[in-house]
Amino acid sequence: MRIFFNNIIFFVNILKDRQIIITSDGSKSIYIPKWEETYHSRHGAITEAYHVFIEMGLKKCIQKELKIAEIGLGTGLNCLITFLENKQLNKKISYTAYEAFPITEVEANKLNYMEVLQAEKYQSIYERIHQSDWGKPVSLDENFSLLKKKEKFQDINDQSCFHLIYFDAFAPRVQPELWTLEIMQKMYKALVPNGIFVTYSAKGSVRRNLQEAGFEVKKLPGPPGKREMLFARKK
Ligand SMILES: C[S@@+](CC[C@H](N)C(=O)[O-])C[C@H]1O[C@@H](n2cnc3c(N)ncnc32)[C@H](O)[C@@H]1O
Repeated sequence: MRIFFNNIIFFVNILKDRQIIITSDGSKSIYIPKWEETYHSRHGAITEAYHVFIEMGLKKCIQKELKIAEIGLGTGLNCLITFLENKQLNKKISYTAYEAFPITEVEANKLNYMEVLQAEKYQSIYERIHQSDWGKPVSLDENFSLLKKKEKFQDINDQSCFHLIYFDAFAPRVQPELWTLEIMQKMYKALVPNGIFVTYSAKGSVRRNLQEAGFEVKKLPGPPGKREMLFARKK
């Protein structure tokens, strides 16, 4: 119990000096000075999110009814663009977002995604992503339901639940404990057979942990500023 609380206090201290930054495509992100780590690529937050999670993840799924898990809701950008993209795809999406250390409403209000995406008419959707209660599913529209779970990734124990996982934890450099074989085994278990796992990282140790967990792993071209990213499928 004591270790758990020490861990939380450690993390809250790390996150407390978060700053809003502007990335190369004009979209904003959050920077953690103590870790020299950002929530998204400095080469473009929206550009990276579209490439890794929409182009290489969502668009590779053929199911009409899709269950997606996001590992690290953070700014809500991935959830927002999945919702917007689904206006064209017209799937029935159930989106489960895990996050243990949510950003504040003040921070969310400083981000400029609606403006950069020219999606101002969906402003209320972005607000609901942040304001909806934890643990209670909400319908963002007739095709998209969101369930936010305030849980540590280490505690995820879902089995055969998801068709697609967006794995968007902080980099292995700062949080190696979230990229271990044990976590990748949890991700494997959480997916249905043939389920897809995508992440921006292409690190060799992550690829090997995914393979050891049972995934078939491919390197795909990465977003601007990154040569490669990882795409994995549950065998
Ligand atoms: C790279 S950021 C997420 C980026 C997010 N997908 C976005 O678009 O803004 C990683 C997220 O993981 C959360 N996080 C870090 N460690 C965690 C843990 N052990 N359990 C749950 N959430 C964690 C952080 O609070 C942060 O929001």
